[in-house]
Amino acid sequence: VDSETGQLIQLHQKAAELYHYILVGTPAGEAGLHYLTRRGVSRELIDQFQLGFAPEQQVLKAYCDKEKLDYQLLRKSGLFTEDREGQLHDRFANRVMYPIKNRRGQVIAFSGRLLSTVNTDLPKYLNSPETPIFNKRRTLFNLDVARKAARQDGKLYLFEGFMDVISAFGAGVKGGVASMGTSFTEEQVGTIHRTTTQLDICYDGDSAGQNAIDRAIKLVESQQTGNLQVRVVQLPAGIDPDEYVQRFGPEKFRQYLASQEETTVDFYLRFLRQGRNLDQQGERMDYLNQVLKVIATVPTPLEEDLYLSKLAQEFSLDKAALQSQLAQVRAQTG
Ligand code: GTP
Ligand code: MN
Ligand code: MN
Ligand code: MN
Ligand code: MN
Repeated sequence: VDSETGQLIQLHQKAAELYHYILVGTPAGEAGLHYLTRRGVSRELIDQFQLGFAPEQQVLKAYCDKEKLDYQLLRKSGLFTEDREGQLHDRFANRVMYPIKNRRGQVIAFSGRLLSTVNTDLPKYLNSPETPIFNKRRTLFNLDVARKAARQDGKLYLFEGFMDVISAFGAGVKGGVASMGTSFTEEQVGTIHRTTTQLDICYDGDSAGQNAIDRAIKLVESQQTGNLQVRVVQLPAGIDPDEYVQRFGPEKFRQYLASQEETTVDFYLRFLRQGRNLDQQGERMDYLNQVLKVIATVPTPLEEDLYLSKLAQEFSLDKAALQSQLAQVRAQTG
């Protein structure tokens, strides 16, 4: 390999090996290993995701000096910070290292997590900066593995965090991906659309997670992704998928995903309820109008009928009245 891309990837692969070796094979990695063990991450998962540890010492810089690697290459890699004298220093120190891979499984970046977020101003997760081989907007953590799983299961799962993807994998759900700490992007929707026909959004069970689900659904629907079906799995209040696996076990997690999968319309039936007192007529009308706007977008008459029946039953309304209201909503929104 002599292209710059090839050299950068090779350096990242070496760095991943080094951090992994430090984690599993040296005293300098013990703190990281304890941390992961405490979080329920098995040795198998550590190997599968090639997790590592970046210690306090400048291990990567030392390695690169020994190998006499090119200064400009190191600068471009994003693996170092540069001081005023132009000296390079390991960017990642005292962090558990999560290699980020491209769709072919080559390491192109890292995310490093602090062992503890107590008494520090440092960010919990530190990601590699953008480099010639790493574009955050295009990258999905675990896509290399998840796209193979999607060929079998026909779907991908979108999680918020790396730990959610890893714990889900440990629980047998191998089709999980996560965006890079930034929000979900158009480019990532495009990638998912090209990879599978169903996406289950499975974000954290808090209000930030709910709002992110709303944004993700709208983003997918704004793209030309005709045959990509979106489903939502709402986690119990206050926990994320990783915490669910740790608390209730792999079996229960798989059951939960399978049984709680809902359509985007059902998600909005719940989501739009928040902060509204549906016993009050005005708020109830407002809710129904919002919900009808969502129902107006469903592609088949059968689905439409299903949701109208649901509403008619819950609010003791005449279904014919809902139908004509829906027609009005359609006329208004075009
Ligand atoms: P754990 O605390 O390790 O379980 O992380 P989490 O994945 O549950 O974190 P959280 O739900 O707070 O955030 C979800 C994702 O957002 C993480 O996996 C990261 O990708 C990203 N993220 C969280 N904190 C930071 C941060 O301080 N900086 C950056 N760049 N990304 C972050
Ligand atoms: Mn290993
Ligand atoms: Mn969260
Ligand atoms: Mn978490
Ligand atoms: Mn979380």
